[in-house]
Amino acid sequence: MKTYLVTGGAGFIGSNFVLYMLKKYDAIKLINIDSLTYAGNLENLKEVEGHPNYTFVQTDIRDEKKISELFENNDIDYVVNFAAESHVDRSIENPSVFVETNVNGTLNLLNVAKKYWTIGEDQYKPGKKYIQVSTDEVYGSLGDTGYFTESTPLDPHSPYSASKASGDLMVKAYADTYKFPVNITRCSNNYGPYQFPEKLIPLVINNCLNKESLPVYGDGLNIRDWLYVEDHCKAIDMVINDGKQGEVYNIGGHNERTNIDIIKTIIKHLNEKVDASITEDLITYVKDRKGHDRRYGIDPQKISDALGWLPDTAFEEGIIKTIDWYLENREWTQNITSGEYKDYYTNMYK
Ligand code: NAD
Ligand code: DAU
Repeated sequence: MKTYLVTGGAGFIGSNFVLYMLKKYDAIKLINIDSLTYAGNLENLKEVEGHPNYTFVQTDIRDEKKISELFENNDIDYVVNFAAESHVDRSIENPSVFVETNVNGTLNLLNVAKKYWTIGEDQYKPGKKYIQVSTDEVYGSLGDTGYFTESTPLDPHSPYSASKASGDLMVKAYADTYKFPVNITRCSNNYGPYQFPEKLIPLVINNCLNKESLPVYGDGLNIRDWLYVEDHCKAIDMVINDGKQGEVYNIGGHNERTNIDIIKTIIKHLNEKVDASITEDLITYVKDRKGHDRRYGIDPQKISDALGWLPDTAFEEGIIKTIDWYLENREWTQNITSGEYKDYYTNMYK
């Protein structure tokens, strides 16, 4: 029975991953650690709360003592590091916490795992692996053509992507220097249930439902490559099982859309399904994000050739599932958007 230490499992992708893994495998043990920042929400994990193979521990990935205790008391096979500060706009306002979690937190996990997995010089207990969940944003921005491959040079522009690139480089350094067993995954933009409504898709759904303006940064023509979150979870599972030592895997489903196209798609669905007064009149062009990357586009050839990964959910299907989920779970959004988030969001466009 393999034991997974999942970090950041109360966040958007992490909680989807926890639910995906516990549904897929009967014989795994999964320990979820999360410090429960504004982005972490145990409500996401209600359905597995009492699951016999699941444990939640509230802790910070920078806490060496607590992480060591977890390794002391459990024979951990895999560390899957989702924990991060993840929002670009927040990183522009306050970069320091991004370095704290995304760089120092990553380093702490590597150190503790290395300590407990070592059996000799540059030798580790068999079958152990550290997986760093990273992002396409570390590659920077594309022009009108071409894609990010695993050998595209890192060229991060925001404090967020710079901190993720730094974390990745630390993971690479552990593989190169100590032959430490690792994989790095770099996925494109995810969407789906449980995404915090500071990110484009849930923000637009939420604002439409509240008849609030839809802030479009710059000209709205920046392009993101959208992947349904469950397809990301499936890819990570495949990398854990079959990823080759030290390798990086890009994850994406060739689904590039301009931001304005995404916004208009959501408006159209909600207009037809919920309320005819949800219209494009809500669209409001606002000041551009500083250093705004123009285009992301992933080349997923490597993961599809090497591991047989392909996405299952087309955007047209995924966006409807996502909109329906937010419609059915309005309380979730209301709960998570009270308090600190509300102040942040209210002040943002003043
Ligand atoms: P999220 O912000 O929704 O969740 C992050 C989680 O990490 C939260 O539950 C938070 O409480 C926890 N956390 C933050 N700091 C912590 C710390 N110091 N110790 C322990 N827990 C901490 O983020 P997400 O969108 O789910 O992203 C998860 C990971 O996937 C991140 O590493 C991100 O860089 C990467 N990623 C995200 C996307 C995307 O589109 N959202 C795409 C590619 C990669
Ligand atoms: O590409 C993967 C990355 O995707 C992840 O690493 C990040 O953690 C995740 O947050 C996401 O980053 P983006 O910056 O691409 O996502 P965001 O939802 O913040 O913005 C998507 C696009 O929409 C971007 O071009 C900015 C724009 N935008 C965003 C918001 C929140 C708007 O025009 N208006 C908005 O209100």
